[in-house]
Amino acid sequence: MILTHLRLKDFRSYENLDISFDPGLTLILGDNAVGKTNLAEAIHYLSLARSWRSKEDGMLLRDGTQGAFISADVSEGKLNRQIGIEIGRQSKKVFLNGKPVRRLSELSRVTNVISFSPSDVPLFVGSPGERRSFLDISLAKRSSDYFALASRYSRLLKERNAALKAYSPDRNVIDALTSQMVATAEPMVRYRMMYVTSLNSVLPDLLTKLRGEKTSCELIYRPFVRGDENFRGRAEKAFLDALESDLAHRSTSVGPHREDFSFKMDGKDIATRGSQGENRLAVLALKLAPCLLVEESEKMPICVLDDVTSELDPGHVESLISVLRGLGQVFVTATKLNIEGASIVDVAANNAIRRI
Ligand SMILES: Nc1ncnc2c1ncn2[C@@H]1O[C@H](COP(=O)(O)OP(=O)(O)OP(=O)(O)O)[C@@H](O)[C@H]1O
Ligand SMILES: [Mg+2]
Repeated sequence: MILTHLRLKDFRSYENLDISFDPGLTLILGDNAVGKTNLAEAIHYLSLARSWRSKEDGMLLRDGTQGAFISADVSEGKLNRQIGIEIGRQSKKVFLNGKPVRRLSELSRVTNVISFSPSDVPLFVGSPGERRSFLDISLAKRSSDYFALASRYSRLLKERNAALKAYSPDRNVIDALTSQMVATAEPMVRYRMMYVTSLNSVLPDLLTKLRGEKTSCELIYRPFVRGDENFRGRAEKAFLDALESDLAHRSTSVGPHREDFSFKMDGKDIATRGSQGENRLAVLALKLAPCLLVEESEKMPICVLDDVTSELDPGHVESLISVLRGLGQVFVTATKLNIEGASIVDVAANNAIRRI
């Protein structure tokens, strides 16, 4: 997947930007506060119509304006698609080849952008919700079946929580929702287990390359009950055991929405014993690992790495670059970086120009 052309109108600091990109590695360079991260954010936005920095889309509109527009040409082999996203303060619209799409999720099936920013470094030490969200998003990008299951589960969860909050909760309604949730959770947990196994098949080698030394590592996923052939019975029991407490707290306390995973590097838990630099490389490996699971090179995700090199020593920057050269289209923002053969975008005074 290659982003060939990007136009921004009133997005963050960009009043009007019209820029073409090359395949392979592109460095987005410029001094502080010139708009490098804003440009990286716009590319990331093409993936889910969601920013990694702001929950509120209003922040994305250039100060003093009421709407922003992103337009992008993305190619995948011989297939060329044009994506348009109109962002308002309260709403947004996505267009695919000029036609409005009914659901934002359709965008997720068309574009796949993997991003890394300094705010990702505490992924393993941060809240379980952020880890789950990483797993869910990257799995949903890989499998539309999983996407449908996760959407269904989250709808059922909302309904069950609403039923638990009712003035006098209806046990029949709660039981019916519980059994639908268990039925949905079973394949979800299997997908998660398979995905973690796939990630573990590429992670040690990837982290070894990033660290420049032989490294063993493992992503450890803990399903809420064991995902074997007795899953249903166990899951039903787990929901039943938690019911009294769920009724008291008016919220569902067990299920895939409460699961978590951790990361072991050379036998130690990265969250509790990893250094800042080790956490950075572990998160980076986890973020990049899905690229190595893509079988058709045309479908390789676009990677956007914001400010990834600033805290790495020169040896690690070199290792990272050699990993990035083996991926598809990659954008790296930095104040200064010199990489032979990379394309360069110079950002200055909120304008970006591709260096020819
Ligand atoms: N909605 C907005 N409207 C106008 N300007 C904005 C908006 N959001 C952010 N900016 C401004 O855009 C400028 C560039 O921000 P950006 O984060 O892209 O800088 P950067 O080049 O990544 O800098 P650094 O090297 O420090 O990371 C900042 O001065 C910021 O205040
Ligand atoms: Mg920045």
